[in-house]
Amino acid sequence: MTDAPNGPRDVTVIQHPLVQHKLTLMRQKATSTGEFRRLAREISLLMAYELTRDLPLETAAIETPLEPMQAPILSGKKLCIVSILRAGDGLMEGMLDLVPSARVGHIGLYRDPETLVPVEYYLKLPDDVSERLVIVVDPMLATGHSAAAALARLKQAGAEQLRFACLLAAPQGVDVVTSAHPDVPVFTCSVDRELDEHAYIRPGLGDAGDRLYGTK
Ligand code: URA
Repeated sequence: MTDAPNGPRDVTVIQHPLVQHKLTLMRQKATSTGEFRRLAREISLLMAYELTRDLPLETAAIETPLEPMQAPILSGKKLCIVSILRAGDGLMEGMLDLVPSARVGHIGLYRDPETLVPVEYYLKLPDDVSERLVIVVDPMLATGHSAAAALARLKQAGAEQLRFACLLAAPQGVDVVTSAHPDVPVFTCSVDRELDEHAYIRPGLGDAGDRLYGTK
């Protein structure tokens, strides 16, 4: 938790050495598409570990080969991971490796070229999204407008407990999301220096979707 001029905000920069090392490899322009995708899967698994650190537990009666015991298990409904298309999908697989029972949702937004307002073109969520912890994933928190719009749409659809996860954030993206959604904790691996005039994060890693899918 840090104090910002616009009030307290809940932003966690994941400092785990493996996360930081993998992020550096992802930033390098020489990293191939296949390697980038593999690293995205690995880093998102580690991110999911941090994002789920405080999930509630209950005890269940089980039997080991030697004796009965009361053992901790996750309480209540499991997670829903919502990918902001298309680059969000690159962070999905690693999270599902760690939490295979999670439900998955998708939201697609494009920016209206005239108004610059994000417009929804796709939404598919599990029916019980209101009962689940929802982790919204998008590798790059740049202007923050898509992320803020996605979070607003998910709240409208009934989601009550939300977290936002990205690989990299620009300072202004963090400001936009935490101002619009102070109730949503943000997890990132780095808050980079700035957003450039083309809305790229600097130093960044380039276009996350293109690097994941080998497009240009
Ligand atoms: N989206 C990206 O893929 N990269 C950026 O730097 C900013 C937005």
